[in-house]
Amino acid sequence: MSNKMWGGRFTERPDAIMEEINVSIDVDRHLYAQDIAASKAHAAMLSAQGIITANDAKNIAKGLDTILSEIGKGTFDFKRALEDIHMNVESRLGELIGPAAGRLHTARSRNDQVATDFRLFVRDTIDDTDRALALFQQALASRALEHAATVMPGFTHLQTAQPVTFGHHLLAYVEMASRDRGRFADARQRLNESPLGAAALAGTSFPIDRAATAKALGFDRPMANSLDAVSDRDFVIETLSAAAICAVHLSRFAEEIVIWTSPLVGLVRLSDKFTTGSSIMPQKRNPDAAELVRAKTGRVIGALNALLIVMKGLPLAYQKDMQEDKQGAMEAFGALSLAVRAMTGMVLDMAPDEARMKLAAGDGYATATDLADWLVRTLKMPFRDAHHVTGRIVAKAAGDGVALHELPLKAMQAIEPKITKDALAALSVEASVKSRTSFGGTAPKNVAAQAKAWLKRLEKE
Ligand code: ARG
Repeated sequence: MSNKMWGGRFTERPDAIMEEINVSIDVDRHLYAQDIAASKAHAAMLSAQGIITANDAKNIAKGLDTILSEIGKGTFDFKRALEDIHMNVESRLGELIGPAAGRLHTARSRNDQVATDFRLFVRDTIDDTDRALALFQQALASRALEHAATVMPGFTHLQTAQPVTFGHHLLAYVEMASRDRGRFADARQRLNESPLGAAALAGTSFPIDRAATAKALGFDRPMANSLDAVSDRDFVIETLSAAAICAVHLSRFAEEIVIWTSPLVGLVRLSDKFTTGSSIMPQKRNPDAAELVRAKTGRVIGALNALLIVMKGLPLAYQKDMQEDKQGAMEAFGALSLAVRAMTGMVLDMAPDEARMKLAAGDGYATATDLADWLVRTLKMPFRDAHHVTGRIVAKAAGDGVALHELPLKAMQAIEPKITKDALAALSVEASVKSRTSFGGTAPKNVAAQAKAWLKRLEKE
């Protein structure tokens, strides 16, 4: 038997390998809810415009509801010979309601159908991701408030640089997640136009009401150009770009967790809930979740690259290449969602080793800048001279094998006679963080205020 959707023109069945390369039902079945919603909106509009009868529209809607519940229950028989979700649904509708099913496809094509379904799907994904990121931010901000004054080493070049607070470090990721959410929101706003009714590529001769279907599906308006409507996938690419940037942020944080939890560093501990053991080495506590978050970034960036490459050579309008837009994107969105939730779990779970953090914060002459700042502030020394004097003091301490605050005042005065014991007070890690009160700085009172402001803002959303 030839295909029942286009059997008029065909007499033979497709070759098995043709069917195999063409079939997309394993992927686009995930669009079933969106496909059915769009078909219902389309049928209601066709009836309101007098293109099909109210009775046919009613039966179509009823049939579609039955299909929705069959798929939801797992009793729907997806047929590979029917290629994709659109034809599977339409064919089942025919079994359920008879010839009226054939009227549903009036004034539309699978080209505008799939573009509509996928826009709705990506929009739902953005909404889910936004909610997950808000919970991630909430977890970060609450831990930041708890650790607003917990001193830890801040790093540049992965070398101890200046003391910061753990809360400050966590709030950095709240800011990043906020920009990520902004990028998703931008993508959502731009994608929220309806392709439905663009038909195959040229529009239709039927008196359809595209504004009505757009409204019924929650779109802001119909897309203005039928060729553009069926042939661009920039909405997926843009969302994947936002996803890739977000995944990179999560990956950097995951990498930090891997470093912090290494026994060589030992700044943070994860509980048994977020660690795994080794089948051979009984002592191991591996941060697998963090490593997998780091690795999932590959999928997201990969999906973005893959779709850019699929699209870059395609002339207008629809080309079958575009069927390859879904699998990678769906996998990437799934990976990102898991990564955000795993990071949220780890943020709530992690326990900083405060004593070790404090000790490490003072290591490596991390308060040298504070001494230079003291020389500038108290002795009115130009910063460059202060930097030089401090450098000589650090060299002396390093030569004697002592920390900066352990160096006797006399030894400092041998290098700069005007140094008083006041300077020594500036060299503790607590004094150092406390003094960083500039806007956006690490002072505990800044951090607590920012954490509170975030928590309040997130609660209101
Ligand atoms: N399964 C197809 C896709 O995902 C639907 C559109 C088919 N259109 C066509 N002209 N062959 O792209």
